[in-house]
Amino acid sequence: MTDLRQTTGAPGSHILGVGAYEPRRVVDNAELCAWIDSSDEWIRQRTGIVERRWAGEDESLLAMTATAGRRALAHAGMAPTDVDAVLVATVTRLAQFPALAVELAAELGCGPAAAWDVSAACAGFGYALAQADALVRAGTARHVLVVAGDRLTDLTDFHDRATAFLFADGAGAVVVGPWDRPGVGPVVWGSDGSQKDVIRQTLAWDAAVAKGQPPFITMDGQKVFKWALTDVVEVTRRAIEAAGLRPEQIDLFVPHQANDRITDAMLRQLRLPADVVVSRHIRQTGNTSSSSIPIGLARLYHDGLVAPGATCLMVGFGAGLVFAGQVAVLP
Ligand code: UT7
Repeated sequence: MTDLRQTTGAPGSHILGVGAYEPRRVVDNAELCAWIDSSDEWIRQRTGIVERRWAGEDESLLAMTATAGRRALAHAGMAPTDVDAVLVATVTRLAQFPALAVELAAELGCGPAAAWDVSAACAGFGYALAQADALVRAGTARHVLVVAGDRLTDLTDFHDRATAFLFADGAGAVVVGPWDRPGVGPVVWGSDGSQKDVIRQTLAWDAAVAKGQPPFITMDGQKVFKWALTDVVEVTRRAIEAAGLRPEQIDLFVPHQANDRITDAMLRQLRLPADVVVSRHIRQTGNTSSSSIPIGLARLYHDGLVAPGATCLMVGFGAGLVFAGQVAVLP
């Protein structure tokens, strides 16, 4: 038997920088209600959303993720050439190939970094962060750029009263690098394909092409809501335990921005400390799928709410159904 040499990485990984991009156009509830039979009051009460951001033609998925990636690299004080791997979490890349990550690596000047996309809907950022942590600890990559971006409006039926008010666009990114101790806790993740129809596309791409209409997102909101309040709360609790922490040791809570009422219910059940800082940017951004957690991180930095070394609890959940929760130490 021949022994092969193998790489060994760092004892832990660490988030080194954070960045985001939010589209210019702000669409408030009054403007949205021109499309659907709804009201500002109903949307605020049921979701917390006051306004959302929709990308314009020049704010492509590549343009948005590139700006978020550049900002994360600048925050980390790193050059694009320092990056060994680029991961992009997205479900709204409309071309099958090449991966958006490959285009992004070239756009940012990260080539010849390894680059691939991760398809895990609103849990995509957590999935990609877990991969980045594993790559750094295994010594497969030293610095990984994790980017999450979605243009949900490309797949939104603006006449669908059940979804049109929720979905929006954006991108966020973090740089992950080696550390002398764990700075990204174990991920608690998984999937439940038996619920694949709960959030789905109305048509597969081949049928959409044949019919000449886009495959819109459709959702049984109440089922997702109930699942989030039971199973996803448990996932979040387990993520705290997996990191070896107690709820009172969490400084910041950045849940996927699906609904302010889901965040409220999670807070009631998780027993986080009274002064925990909680992301509530759904009020200004709507639901931006994979990018909602890194957008939340960037907003916390922008608002001066992150003390270096703060512990941040994150959980993403969505179409699949899929989920991913983890705790990270922030720079
Ligand atoms: O990111 C992926 C994960 N996605 C989620 O986590 C979404 C989770 N689900 C939700 O956030 C909520 O289910 C929604 C915000 C989507 C919907 O809120 P809800 O409280 O579950 O509303 P509902 O579907 O139970 O409808 C309640 C009422 C109904 O009227 P009746 O039967 O009580 O008279 C609906 O017809 O609200 C009515 N309704 C609306 N009214 C005004 C439904 N949609 C609207 C609307 N505007 N857009």
